[in-house]
Amino acid sequence: MTNKNYLWSDAQDKSIDEELMDFLAGADIKLDKHLFVYDVIATQAHIGGLKTIGILTQIEYQNLHNCLSELKIKYEQGQFILDNSYEDGHSAIEFYLTQQLGELGKKSHTGRSRNDQVLTCSRLFMKHNLLVIKDLSLTLAQHVLKMADEQKDTAMPGYTHLQHAMPNSAGMWLAGFAEGLIDDCFLLDSTLNYIDSSPLGTAAGFGVPLDLPRNQVAKELGFDRVQINPMYAQNSRGKFDLVVLQNLYQVMLTVRRFSWDLSLFMTQEFNFVSLKKSHTTGSSIMPNKSNPDVVELMRAALSLIEGAMAQIQALMSLPSGYQRDLQMSKEPMIKGVLITKQVLGLLPGLMQALVFNKEKMAASISKEMMATDQALKQVKSGMSFREAYGEAKISKSEITYQQSLKDRVSLGGAANLGLNIIQSRLDMLKPL
Ligand code: ARG
Repeated sequence: MTNKNYLWSDAQDKSIDEELMDFLAGADIKLDKHLFVYDVIATQAHIGGLKTIGILTQIEYQNLHNCLSELKIKYEQGQFILDNSYEDGHSAIEFYLTQQLGELGKKSHTGRSRNDQVLTCSRLFMKHNLLVIKDLSLTLAQHVLKMADEQKDTAMPGYTHLQHAMPNSAGMWLAGFAEGLIDDCFLLDSTLNYIDSSPLGTAAGFGVPLDLPRNQVAKELGFDRVQINPMYAQNSRGKFDLVVLQNLYQVMLTVRRFSWDLSLFMTQEFNFVSLKKSHTTGSSIMPNKSNPDVVELMRAALSLIEGAMAQIQALMSLPSGYQRDLQMSKEPMIKGVLITKQVLGLLPGLMQALVFNKEKMAASISKEMMATDQALKQVKSGMSFREAYGEAKISKSEITYQQSLKDRVSLGGAANLGLNIIQSRLDMLKPL
């Protein structure tokens, strides 16, 4: 037996099995905390549509609207708690309205289903958070770009196959991550556009016998357009969540590569970079330790996104229409978004805690790393490249690493990092 509030149960029905209901609700009530405010806002837009078509009078609309605004404030201030006496956030809204406004509250769900309701609020959640993630990525890219400029003359060895390759600069190493993040932001823009479509008003996935002003409601919610086909709207559940996660995967892939490099460069053997005390942790047994746990957890964060993608992909082997399976796409989507925001938010602070060991980096550049410069020097005096290559393989290069870096004039090279071009791409992405 249960004390829960179910929208669909008969008042006299006392046969609901609590254990079963807990299984059906899953983690919904916990997860809906992240969606609740969007659900309230979408409900406000929906009742605006009901007013337009005469289902609600102006006064009824106004009362419902005010009551929803009050609910939003109460929720944000912790006075309305979304607890497990409700099946989910959607039903909590209707119960609240009915509790406050009696019969009028019962009108709020006219012409919609929890199926389009959950789609709408999770889409608003994704849209908002993609913008936040874009903003965090751009802030981080700006930090990295500034550091690249500061470290443009800091020499370090460049590796391929983790073997000595050519002299490099910390500026180039850093600028690459800035450029990567900027490209990831272009992708975020296109993902934002892809999902910027309102499912509200498609109801259970078949439309309703009411001429809902779907465009008006979509516009009020800030959507670019409506999803026309109600069945497609249902089929986009999970599919859109997946495209969001795929995009976050790209962002976090950039972060993982950076974290990997850092943890390598922080080993005693490399000793190129260290972290200020604020960003290291100790060992419970080894007094000598100062560990970059934060870098490792940032590297590991991608595994959560990958797991989240796998969960949704596995889930989506479904026929058309709403299936309750789709409820399980909520948790991976939300978790993926939250971990990405957390990591991106912490990275600028981590960047500031980095200390470059310039002497060690320069000292690690071995003489043979200038062999390519040597070969190309001969090319400039007329020798074929293959010939020069063969000579440079056996003769010692007289070129210093400083000279090698000074001569690296090809666009993007150490002497011509193209930071201004990267900066102008970043500026293009900033909101007006
Ligand atoms: N918690 C549900 C979900 O996330 C809400 C939609 C319920 N719809 C239904 N037809 N049971 O999918």
